[in-house]
Amino acid sequence: MRLSIAFANLKPGTGKTTSAVLLAYALHRRGRDVVLVDADPAASALAWSDAVGGFPFGVYGLAVKDAGRRLSGLGGQDSVVVVDLPQAEDHGAIVRSVLRRVDEVTIPVAPTTIEIERTSGIADLLDEVEEVRQDPARVAVLLNRVVGGARSGPDARAALTELGYEVLGPQIPRREAYALAYGAEPDIRGGDPFDLLAETYLKRAAL
Ligand SMILES: Nc1ncnc2c1ncn2[C@@H]1O[C@H](COP(=O)(O)OP(=O)(O)OP(=O)(O)O)[C@@H](O)[C@H]1O
Ligand SMILES: [Mg+2]
Repeated sequence: MRLSIAFANLKPGTGKTTSAVLLAYALHRRGRDVVLVDADPAASALAWSDAVGGFPFGVYGLAVKDAGRRLSGLGGQDSVVVVDLPQAEDHGAIVRSVLRRVDEVTIPVAPTTIEIERTSGIADLLDEVEEVRQDPARVAVLLNRVVGGARSGPDARAALTELGYEVLGPQIPRREAYALAYGAEPDIRGGDPFDLLAETYLKRAAL
C-alpha cells in the first residue's frame, strides 16, 4: 500500500460514500492501482458496486473493529487505498481503528454552520487517536456541496481555517450529477473536481 485515504465524520449524510467512490474512480482513471474499502456496516459502497456490475477496481467490505489493522493486507505495494467509513457517532470502534492507520483523514463538510460545528466530534476522536499513532495523519477538511458563486463556500473555508483545520484546495460543488451518482456508473473526467482532488492527494504523498 502506497497511500491510504479515509473519509470520516461524526454524522451520517455528509458525503463520505459519494466522495470515496468518485475519488476512487478518479484515481483509477489516472492509472493508479486503487482499492476501495467499505468499512460501513450499511455497505452502501458495496451495494453501489453491485448495482453497476462491479467497479473497475477492487472493492472490499471491512466493517469490522480491526479494519485498520487489516488494511495493510489489501492490494499491492503501489495501491492507493480509499476507505469509506461509517458515521463515528454510531461506529466508534471501526472509525478509531482506521484513523489509527491511514495516511490521510478527510472530513467532508458542507458549508453550513451546523456541519462546521459538528466537526468538533471527529476532531476530538482524531486527537485521541493521534496519541497512539506512529506518525501523525494528514488531516484535512473537504468542502462538499458548495454552491457556486455563493458566499457560503469562502465563508466556510475561512471559518474552518480559523478553527485550525487544513482545508483542501479542491472543493466539491453541489451538483445534480453527484446527487444522482449513487448506483450508477460514475463518469469522472480530467478536470472534474474529483480529478483535481485525486491530483491533490497524489501531490501531498509525493506520488
Ligand atoms: N457534491 C454533492 N452534490 C450533491 N449531492 C451530494 C453531493 N455529495 C453527496 N451528495 C448527496 O448527499 C447525500 C449523502 O451523501 P453520502 O451518502 O455520500 O453521505 P455519507 O456521509 O456516506 O452518508 P452515510 O453516513 O449515511 O453513509 C446523498 O443523497 C448524496 O447523493
Ligand atoms: Mg456512506
